[in-house]
Amino acid sequence: MTPKKVMLSAVQPSNRLTLGNYLGALKNWVQLQSQFDCLFFAVDLHAITVRQDPKELREQTYRAIATYIAAGIDPDSVTLFAQSHVPQHAELAWVLNCFVYMGELSRMTQFKDKSAKQGQNIPVGLFTYPALMAADILLYKTHLVPVGEDQKQHLEITRDIAQRMNQIYGNDLFTVPEIYLPPVGARIMSLQNPLSKMSKSDPDPQSAVYLTDTDDQIRKKLKRAVTDSGSEIAYTAEKPGIKNLIDIQAAITGQSPEQITQTYAGKQYGHLKVDTAELVATAVGPIRDRTEQLLRDRSYLDDLLKQGAKKARTRAEKTLGDVFDRLGLIRRG
Ligand code: TRP
Repeated sequence: MTPKKVMLSAVQPSNRLTLGNYLGALKNWVQLQSQFDCLFFAVDLHAITVRQDPKELREQTYRAIATYIAAGIDPDSVTLFAQSHVPQHAELAWVLNCFVYMGELSRMTQFKDKSAKQGQNIPVGLFTYPALMAADILLYKTHLVPVGEDQKQHLEITRDIAQRMNQIYGNDLFTVPEIYLPPVGARIMSLQNPLSKMSKSDPDPQSAVYLTDTDDQIRKKLKRAVTDSGSEIAYTAEKPGIKNLIDIQAAITGQSPEQITQTYAGKQYGHLKVDTAELVATAVGPIRDRTEQLLRDRSYLDDLLKQGAKKARTRAEKTLGDVFDRLGLIRRG
């Protein structure tokens, strides 16, 4: 039997996860977890590249892990952990920092966007963020990384670093990862501006359904979702608000957008909104409730994180030891 391919992804534990994170990422991971050798983690070390409230950060990290489990990730069959619990991430990031160039890092659009918001004092960590992300990926000989459009550039730089080091130290040093676009990918847009992505960092709480929202909040947000002029329910780029609601339904039910659109022949926007709200509430409700339940048992979560980190460390240390060795560092213990 050929070993399963390694699939790895991570989420920043800053802000609450949204319906977009669930339908665009988590839901797919749940479906893929038995097919691949999966590693999922919360990137708390990436989160501190901008100031975080310590209490909030800790809560959000627990919450991210609890949400993964509540959404259906099986902690026994995947490797689930917190990035800071596996010191090899920061160690390999240092090495990669010595092989990535200032020019490359300054071209990263996420750096440009985030640093523009920092004023005079831009933390260096924000600049070298991609080296840590490359370390996350390369430590586990990852084949596939399911991420959204906005992370494509970071994946490209990871591939460049891997190839550069492989050329110097041997082609079997790192596996060059591929971006993984799921067969049924959902890109959920903001409820207030359907031309931009639903984002957990959007300052307008009406723009996103959070996985912490009550059924009532979900219904209100969908009722207030921005729709388009006209009244016909059509699946077209000219009606981005309507298209988004249909996409949400499609991602939840697994039906095609065309099938869904047909059922609204002769109906009004209001019908579509009400139905979408109910579907979202039905999908989010159990995840929210289960997450809260899991969050009440910290010792269970601590235990899981401990086991996850142990599994991850063993794998990560193998790669890191090899890297140190090839670079000429004396072997440690
Ligand atoms: N940078 C990613 C984001 O903001 C999070 C991330 C960190 C990540 N390390 C990763 C994603 C490794 C995939 C693989 O969404």
